[in-house]
Amino acid sequence: MNQENKALPYFSVAPMMDWTDRHCRYFHRLLSPHTLLYTEMITTGALLHGDAPRFLRYDQAEHPVALQLGGSDPRDLATCAKMGEDHGYDEINLNCGCPSDRVQKGKIGAILMAEPELVAQCVDQMQKQVKIPVTVKCRIGIDEQDDFDFLDRFISTISKSGCDTFIIHARKAWLSGLSPKENRTKPPINYARVLEIKEKHPSLNISVNGDIKTVEAVKGHLQNVESVMIGREAYQNPYLLAQLEHEIYKTDLADRYKIARAMIPYIEKQQKDFDTPIKSITRHMTGLFHEQKGAKKWRQLLSTLPHELGAKPTLIDDVLQQMHL
Ligand SMILES: Cc1cc2nc3c(=O)[nH]c(=O)nc-3n(C[C@H](O)[C@H](O)[C@H](O)COP(=O)(O)O)c2cc1C
Repeated sequence: MNQENKALPYFSVAPMMDWTDRHCRYFHRLLSPHTLLYTEMITTGALLHGDAPRFLRYDQAEHPVALQLGGSDPRDLATCAKMGEDHGYDEINLNCGCPSDRVQKGKIGAILMAEPELVAQCVDQMQKQVKIPVTVKCRIGIDEQDDFDFLDRFISTISKSGCDTFIIHARKAWLSGLSPKENRTKPPINYARVLEIKEKHPSLNISVNGDIKTVEAVKGHLQNVESVMIGREAYQNPYLLAQLEHEIYKTDLADRYKIARAMIPYIEKQQKDFDTPIKSITRHMTGLFHEQKGAKKWRQLLSTLPHELGAKPTLIDDVLQQMHL
């Protein structure tokens, strides 16, 4: 797809709770200078009543970085979108895809797909508060409401409020009976449905998400849509981001060892500035050598050494040396 809208990179790393925290994002950014990074979902309640500076903290190196919000109160979402913009985020994304029971009770996530008018109102209010793009991440349907017309009504209604970018996880969510984890595997993937939406709304920027794991698969999807969002594979096999960067943006292929070492000064700074335990950062790096020689040793050492008393960030150097012994 000839992508005119350079505001939307060809690929992004999905928002993933407990996974894509700021340390993970910093690491992913080293692997891919172009990818768009998403925060974990932050609820409006957490931002308005909790430690907002801590929730919103990120490193300047992370740009472009999008803040994902969870909520359904237009005024609260607008206030939080503004907080995100003021903190320098590049995009605000509204979560309409999370099926967890916990968030459903707060009218957050996939349950909102049943209320397109409310989502349109939320997006409208957010857009009135910020100049940066407001985007929506959704599923292709919920429960029995899983036909084209349902998704089309959702997308059409929200796009009328001016939102022109949708990230669509190409499987529906069951709102009861399945755990969030099962909801990422059990409902069948349906990329054709996302394509139908793109065909009906050619002017919208569509990012497709769900089970996309290889450079070839990403390139295939880019024939049809503007962007691809990668979740679990980017976390479990982060070097995929470097391979995508190389293949799609034609940059030099990053070196795994250099990337690992480049994390040392970052960890030192986080320790100094925020007293961050090393393991909070290294836990995101265990997949770096996925399917490479020494991967098992790297994983083992990286999951144990940072827990030891007196561990220093330079342990990464030691692990790199020991992993082939
Ligand atoms: C651990 C984990 C946490 C997630 N948290 C969020 C979240 O906070 N917000 C969201 O929109 N989606 C969340 N998701 C869903 C992902 O963003 C993505 O839509 C899903 O994993 C499908 O993409 P994939 O097959 O490439 O992993 C999460 C997924 C995982 C695995």
